[in-house]
Amino acid sequence: MKKKIMALVLSAVMTGALITGCGSAASESGAGEAADESAAGENAAENNGESADESADDSEGGTLRVGTNAAFPPFEFVGDDGNPDGFDMALIKAVGEKIGYDVEIQDMEFDSLVSSIGSKIDVAIAGMTVTEERQKMVDFSDSYYEAVQAVIVPKDSAIATAADLENKKIGVQLGTTGEFIADEIAGVEVSAYNKAVDAVNDLNNGRVDCVIVDKNPAEVFGAQFPDKVTVLPGTDFDFEPEFYAIALPKGNTDLADKINSALKELKEDGTYDSLVAEYIEE
Ligand code: ARG
Repeated sequence: MKKKIMALVLSAVMTGALITGCGSAASESGAGEAADESAAGENAAENNGESADESADDSEGGTLRVGTNAAFPPFEFVGDDGNPDGFDMALIKAVGEKIGYDVEIQDMEFDSLVSSIGSKIDVAIAGMTVTEERQKMVDFSDSYYEAVQAVIVPKDSAIATAADLENKKIGVQLGTTGEFIADEIAGVEVSAYNKAVDAVNDLNNGRVDCVIVDKNPAEVFGAQFPDKVTVLPGTDFDFEPEFYAIALPKGNTDLADKINSALKELKEDGTYDSLVAEYIEE
């Protein structure tokens, strides 16, 4: 499984390098990435048009329209069959099964997930960190994973502590906690990309000095370029722990209760641990 993820990511990295060529910040590369509208789930075709009747508000079950950003391995990535795969995808399908909903995945920009909840999608699972800012717009399920930001640097980099990040060029994924952290550092020039892997490509091209991204994707990206980059742990930079949760429509306590009970059951029955072993653990 691990190897599979690596192979997929490597091909994504290489494709990214070929397509973007000279590297591109989010503002330039946005156009080609607007896969927002196309439902990528297996059930997408059958379920088109039914979402209004069978949305997550329907207590009898139906279709749960789930948004993600499938460029964040090992939590979500595009699988061999072209559909989103990864830990989050497996987890939300298991949740759907428990609560009697068909899960329809929509792959979209990370930055539009929160604002799409309640319109295009019912919920989002995307390695999304619970933040106060997001909680103004959406509710969150119980947390299902603890993470922290990491820093990817070139092998010869002198960056080692929080102070070293000052006045640097930092690559991040647009709209992520990595970007929010980078924005607070003195004197930095932040380049925000639609995909974290594009930031890593620009690191390898020398256009940024480091990339701030969540630790598990950082490790996956770092493993693709073992001769070029090093992944430094967030603790070296005093980064706070972050908690991933499923983003939910505000005030829908019925759906929240169902999803939280399902998460609890999946932890108790061993499904959660086996998914961690399959997708995340080394
Ligand atoms: N945990 C970070 C955040 O919530 C990054 C998540 C990025 N996820 C993704 N699927 N691209 O901001």
